[in-house]
Amino acid sequence: MISFTDVTKTYDGHRVLGPVNLEIPAGGITALVGPNGAGKSTLLTIAGRLADATTGSTTVGGLDVAKTPSRDLARTVSILRQENHFITRLTVRELVGFGRFPYSQGRLTPADRAAVEEAMSFLGLEALADRQLDELSGGQRQRAYVAMVLAQDTDYLLLDEPLNNLDVKHAVAMMQQLRRAADELGKTIIIVLHDVNFASAYADRIVALRGGEVVHVGTPSEFMTPSVLHDVFDTEMDVRSDGPYPLAVYFR
Ligand SMILES: Nc1ncnc2c1ncn2[C@@H]1O[C@H](COP(=O)(O)OP(=O)(O)O)[C@@H](O)[C@H]1O
Ligand SMILES: [Mg+2]
Repeated sequence: MISFTDVTKTYDGHRVLGPVNLEIPAGGITALVGPNGAGKSTLLTIAGRLADATTGSTTVGGLDVAKTPSRDLARTVSILRQENHFITRLTVRELVGFGRFPYSQGRLTPADRAAVEEAMSFLGLEALADRQLDELSGGQRQRAYVAMVLAQDTDYLLLDEPLNNLDVKHAVAMMQQLRRAADELGKTIIIVLHDVNFASAYADRIVALRGGEVVHVGTPSEFMTPSVLHDVFDTEMDVRSDGPYPLAVYFR
């Protein structure tokens, strides 16, 4: 479980998040949605300890993120941030190997190498393993970063807009792979998504933020109604509910 208790974040006296009181159960996929600036990345980076909360406490898998030594936390929770993906003269395999740092401190054991190969094959990156990152398309690079996070082999994965730069084929493949990671490997995945239809199709629950506050928590069918969508996004949408999951229709 991930638990936020009275979590706030303030920049220069201006509160951008909270107070958030939220429990995300272990297992499955939770989508974080909401308009730009809603606080999604802020919430995720606090859970991944890339940012400190101004007040409140956050636990991931029972570990207090403010008090747990980094190395222990890094074996429980991994995070793919939205920006600052460095692009250097590294191969895909070398990048994915960084995911093993909490275990190996840079000296990869055979078990670490096996985990790297497994993460690359999970993302369909075998053919790109020896390519340099700066020779890849944005979407290929994005998959390599997700493989790095998977190689960290944590129970909790926090992914901030991992579908960025992916064409529809690779976006669907990524969501199917994450679904498998949740269903077959028992991972708990929190994923920031912009496309509510992807959230509806692949997530078990949807948490919506607006203006720094959690404004809705529920299943896809509870979330995907014209009134909730309007409340969250301030946009008129219809919803089709005649298929396996509800789909928002943006244009009337
Ligand atoms: N380093 C920062 N300094 C000042 N304001 C920030 C900083 N990072 C984020 N913010 C502000 O916090 C709010 C929430 O941002 P963010 O969590 O990135 O939103 P989202 O990911 O939902 O688009 C925004 O208004 C943003 O401008
Ligand atoms: Mg963001």
